[in-house]
Amino acid sequence: MSSSGKSAPVVTIDGPAGVGKGTLAKQLAQIFGFYYLDSGAVYRALAVKALEDGVRLENIDKLIELAKGLSLEFPQQENFAAHIDGINIDASLRSEQCSNFASQIASIAGIRKELLELQRCFKVVPGLVGDGRDLGTVVFPQAEVKIFLDASCEERAQRRYKQLIDQGISANFEHLFDSIRARDERDRTRSTAPLAAAKDAWVVDSTEMSIQAVVKNSAAYVRERLSIV
Ligand code: DC
Repeated sequence: MSSSGKSAPVVTIDGPAGVGKGTLAKQLAQIFGFYYLDSGAVYRALAVKALEDGVRLENIDKLIELAKGLSLEFPQQENFAAHIDGINIDASLRSEQCSNFASQIASIAGIRKELLELQRCFKVVPGLVGDGRDLGTVVFPQAEVKIFLDASCEERAQRRYKQLIDQGISANFEHLFDSIRARDERDRTRSTAPLAAAKDAWVVDSTEMSIQAVVKNSAAYVRERLSIV
């Protein structure tokens, strides 16, 4: 990846857990031929490294040192899965243990600050689509296109439940609902970079929309904002 990035437009997709930001962002990156940044994977990758090295949450200096050494890629030819040193590490980022640790380290201001530059390096020609919680508010406040994707907690738990059942994995709806609600609460109320729509974001409530409709409308919005014919 070259890092000039001056005229690279940025599309940010922020929103709560389980709303489908990743699906939308990847499809937009595919449609427009842009790079992709899964900012949640940045926090998750740091969590995996810390768990591997036995680094505890209290050891902020060591976590910052690990953050400095992080180098992630999301190659389009591999369906934008997270890679470190050419190795697909996406599956290891999705464990419950990693999700919980990532959520805790994401609430530490020093860590968030350390990971800012890493995320900004993804702004490269011909453009970037990124998804997360604070991309439009903190990481790329000058982004040309900002979308805030929302859906009710119940709907997000339903979608996750269906996804797991479809994959043959047993799931408990109440448990999923409670865990999504707890993560929402933590993401929205933390003091550093809480989850919130940027003032200039286009807010999409997808509770009663199919993913196809969300992608179609969002692609039209991106085209209009970037004057792509
Ligand atoms: O989107 P996700 O579930 O993969 O994110 C993992 C964790 O990282 C989640 O607890 C929220 C946090 N996160 C964040 O604080 N800011 C971001 N831009 C992206 C994710």
